Amino acid sequence: MRRHLIAGNWKMNGLKVDGIDRVERLAAMAEASPPAAEVLLCPPATLVAVLREGAKESPIVFGGQDCHIRQNGAFTGDISAAMLADIGCSYVIVGHSERRRDHGEDDQIVAAKAAAAHDAGLTAIVCVGESKAERDAGRALDVVAGQVRASLPGGANAANTVIAYEPVWAIGTGDTATPGDVAQIHRMIRDLLEEMAPGQSQRFRILYGGSVNASNAAELLALADVDGALVGGASLDPDGFAAIVAAAAP
Ligand code: PGA
Repeated sequence: MRRHLIAGNWKMNGLKVDGIDRVERLAAMAEASPPAAEVLLCPPATLVAVLREGAKESPIVFGGQDCHIRQNGAFTGDISAAMLADIGCSYVIVGHSERRRDHGEDDQIVAAKAAAAHDAGLTAIVCVGESKAERDAGRALDVVAGQVRASLPGGANAANTVIAYEPVWAIGTGDTATPGDVAQIHRMIRDLLEEMAPGQSQRFRILYGGSVNASNAAELLALADVDGALVGGASLDPDGFAAIVAAAAP
């Protein structure tokens, strides 16, 4: 009932020539073997329009990596959700831990960004996850629950919002959370969503992120409450990313 979503977050990587090459290879693989999962790429915003043009015959969809809380105005250097929608994005990641850490974004800002995404007709991928110190202190469940409660705006529903659980200590480190820990956190998030949006929790997609790769994807994606993956480093290699997409097939 929940189609897996495999999202590639390229972060600040890739010039036009690299991006076109990656997308051409992914599009060819998707054509040869149509993916069971929904496949989303979040390249740097500078590349979305050109990459989307090259992938228009493929099932690949596109998203942004961040958006502003407003749709326009005097905010030098920022990009709005409306602008992302205008160039063909259907998703935007908000509250990634690198934004929370490097740009001081707290749950209130993340909720405002998710609301801006919804207003622009985008699905918000809201990221949450505990730090190593929080996990070691036995606070992972509490921290993540607090982030989910505070980072979802009013009006968030299973159609316009995806949650991505990304333990901060697993991002870009090669360490993944154990399947048991992932299962526990995802189940807690789904229970919490039932409280926040009664009757909808079974429809929400909850992604896992943090060093997902071609070797560990199948085990993580087989967990009952894992509805896809948010993939950073491994999404830069089309063969590896395609293997993760294939692992999501039922
Ligand atoms: P990673 O990044 O796969 O490189 O750990 C995941 C993310 O930051 O979304």
